[in-house]
Amino acid sequence: MTSIAVIAGSTREGSYNRALARLAAARLEAHGAAVTMVDLDAFDLPIYSDHLEKTAFPADALALKELLAAQDGLLIVSPEYNGSVPALLKNAIDWASRPTGDEGLVALTAFRGKAAAIMSASISPFGGLRGLMHLRQILTTIQMLVIPEQVLVPLAHAGFEEDGSLKEALPASLVDMTAARLVKVAGVLAA
Ligand SMILES: Cc1cc2nc3c(=O)[nH]c(=O)nc-3n(C[C@H](O)[C@H](O)[C@H](O)COP(=O)(O)O)c2cc1C
Repeated sequence: MTSIAVIAGSTREGSYNRALARLAAARLEAHGAAVTMVDLDAFDLPIYSDHLEKTAFPADALALKELLAAQDGLLIVSPEYNGSVPALLKNAIDWASRPTGDEGLVALTAFRGKAAAIMSASISPFGGLRGLMHLRQILTTIQMLVIPEQVLVPLAHAGFEEDGSLKEALPASLVDMTAARLVKVAGVLAA
């Protein structure tokens, strides 16, 4: 079974991106994936520093890296902060991208050659598009294959029903389409 990790780039209580991540996880499962929800609040990740990496590589950075390394694919659902990726998410990616043990500098064992998909919910009318453009570039840099489908939920404060479902049919259908493609591509790349 194809395994997919789902990371939300916000740990805020009531986060629209966490809500979108839950919806997407259900669609990934509906398309046959085994989903692991990754709660970044559960990992004690200091801001990346070369000194820390050399002297006391954080146990949780290694745990996050190993968790991701065991997956076939990755879905990131993240808000946009000041036109880019939240520091919480970027810091987690930076730690998980670092070589450990006998690995070479660009081993990228958590990411390399795997499929990824990206989604964003934002209170702005632009739906976090600028953040996703940066996120796509970051994931490509760490040698993931980012599928072309992506999901934007603009005006997110008005976009969800009380039960957490999406009010509009278009983003809901895009979540399903993106989930289906991610499971398919991740499965092919992992074979
Ligand atoms: C530091 C900060 C910067 C933000 N910058 C942007 C931005 O550039 N574009 C945008 O659409 N929303 C921006 N927002 C608003 C977020 O879209 C909004 O807070 C959203 O609810 C965050 O996602 P969440 O609900 O998943 O926590 C920013 C919020 C914060 C806290």
